[in-house]
Amino acid sequence: MIEVRELTKRYADRTVLNGISATFEKGEAVALLGPSGGGKSTLLRCLNGLESFDTGSVKVGDCVLEPGHARAQSAQLWGVRRRVGFVFQQWHLFAHRTTLGNVIEAPVHVKGQSVKEATERAKALLAKVGMSHREGAYPSELSGGEQQRVAIARALAMDPEVLLLDEPTSALDPERVGELVALLEQLRSEGLTIVTVTHEMRFAQELASRVLVLHGGNIIEEGTPGRVLTHPRHERTRAFLGLGPAIAS
Ligand SMILES: Nc1ncnc2c1ncn2[C@@H]1O[C@H](COP(=O)(O)OP(=O)(O)O)[C@@H](O)[C@H]1O
Ligand SMILES: [Mg+2]
Repeated sequence: MIEVRELTKRYADRTVLNGISATFEKGEAVALLGPSGGGKSTLLRCLNGLESFDTGSVKVGDCVLEPGHARAQSAQLWGVRRRVGFVFQQWHLFAHRTTLGNVIEAPVHVKGQSVKEATERAKALLAKVGMSHREGAYPSELSGGEQQRVAIARALAMDPEVLLLDEPTSALDPERVGELVALLEQLRSEGLTIVTVTHEMRFAQELASRVLVLHGGNIIEEGTPGRVLTHPRHERTRAFLGLGPAIAS
């Protein structure tokens, strides 16, 4: 579904992604872990063309993003954005639009759906994320967890094949994390590919079939959550997980 090849991203003379290669399959849930500043958010933004990069490529379906400016590759960029939905850490809902207004915005203005058609679909999506009862509410009237569910419905309204989430549990009470896992697991079982940045190990363990650990712009470790979280091979992963140094044998 997504193929990342030798992706390099620099800010001035700082290398933030250092030749990342990774593949994300259809219907797979992958968690990106690692210490702050390791490049997780930057990688996620590169996956849907929100960020340009310096070398390498990002292939989503049959669309390919290459280094350089967005304007030069707008057709490919459009193809990628259409396939890849993004749920931001701070949700970025439109403050002056209701829940329903937020969800129909892109289908109406980007896809050209009629308001009636978009509204029907939005209502179904809001039911799916458990937000039907707050259709008319504005973002400021919603809790963090509720805004997040609206943001997920808004992303799904464009019928993406991939959903990217940046630290989706950071504003949730622990008891809400299980609900998010259940929702994402349902979407995944319907064929959605999910790539999520998280620092919550339980969330990674319950949702993902594979985790990637990013550190200093490199994938330093990859495997099942069970293996990586309990028997990390890389010292930096051990430190990140608070496991202390491995005993030499
Ligand atoms: N717009 C930017 N300009 C300069 N440096 C940036 C910018 N965005 C991120 N960085 C730097 O890139 C590195 C990786 O950041 P980020 O991808 O946000 O890491 P993570 O999400 O793993 O915490 C950090 O050192 C950060 O300071
Ligand atoms: Mg981040």
